[in-house]
Amino acid sequence: MIQIKRFFGYNDLRNFSYLFFDDVTGDAWAIDPYEGGPIKDYIRGQGLNLAGILNTHQHYDHIRGNSSLIESFDCEVMKAEGKVKLGEKAVIDFIASPGHTMDHQVFLLASDGKKHLFSGDTFFNAGVGNCKNGGDVETLYLTTQKLLSMLDESTLLYPGHDYSKRNLEFALQFDPENKNIKNFLHEVDYQDVEDRGIRTMEEEKRVNPFFSLDRLKMDNRFSELTEKEIFFYLRQQRDNW
Ligand SMILES: [Fe+2]
Repeated sequence: MIQIKRFFGYNDLRNFSYLFFDDVTGDAWAIDPYEGGPIKDYIRGQGLNLAGILNTHQHYDHIRGNSSLIESFDCEVMKAEGKVKLGEKAVIDFIASPGHTMDHQVFLLASDGKKHLFSGDTFFNAGVGNCKNGGDVETLYLTTQKLLSMLDESTLLYPGHDYSKRNLEFALQFDPENKNIKNFLHEVDYQDVEDRGIRTMEEEKRVNPFFSLDRLKMDNRFSELTEKEIFFYLRQQRDNW
């Protein structure tokens, strides 16, 4: 079966990198390696072989670990469009998701009846990526709508950073009575980032203001705005928050 290992970079940017692997064949693929060392140690410790690297986008903190992994394991950065079968157990869909950067892509991994979205800097827990370094907010809005319409509610979300605390505090301003936000914030405050569970899109829709534009539109503050205008407003507010 396919297993997924998460690596947290203890840096200011709070990067997440991932490794997924077939526990029978040992074939493994790294996603957005921030630091090569811990990923290498894990691969060697588990007796895996790194078959490829996937990068959601070209910002340095998402490709930083590529070269040391390539040197050690003689593998390549995978580039593809659409669905690619990896080994016996996994299919990964390379989906264009421009907005944070214009060449951003997300990876939807399907295996053993489950779906896992590696969302890079497109979706975070309780937020979306910013568009300050080569992105475009309208494009991110369209990408968000596209992904929300195509993803099953049970899809598990693996974001490129841990910005949960700030995002949840931001979200609470617009939805102060939301128990889902409060409970998640409590978890973030009391649980180590490494111990935190992976959340589904269904859970995310209850806490992420960028996924709740129809709900926000019922608020007097936003009733005159279109959903796209609310998305722009949220992105701008979060940029300066
Ligand atoms: Fe980025």
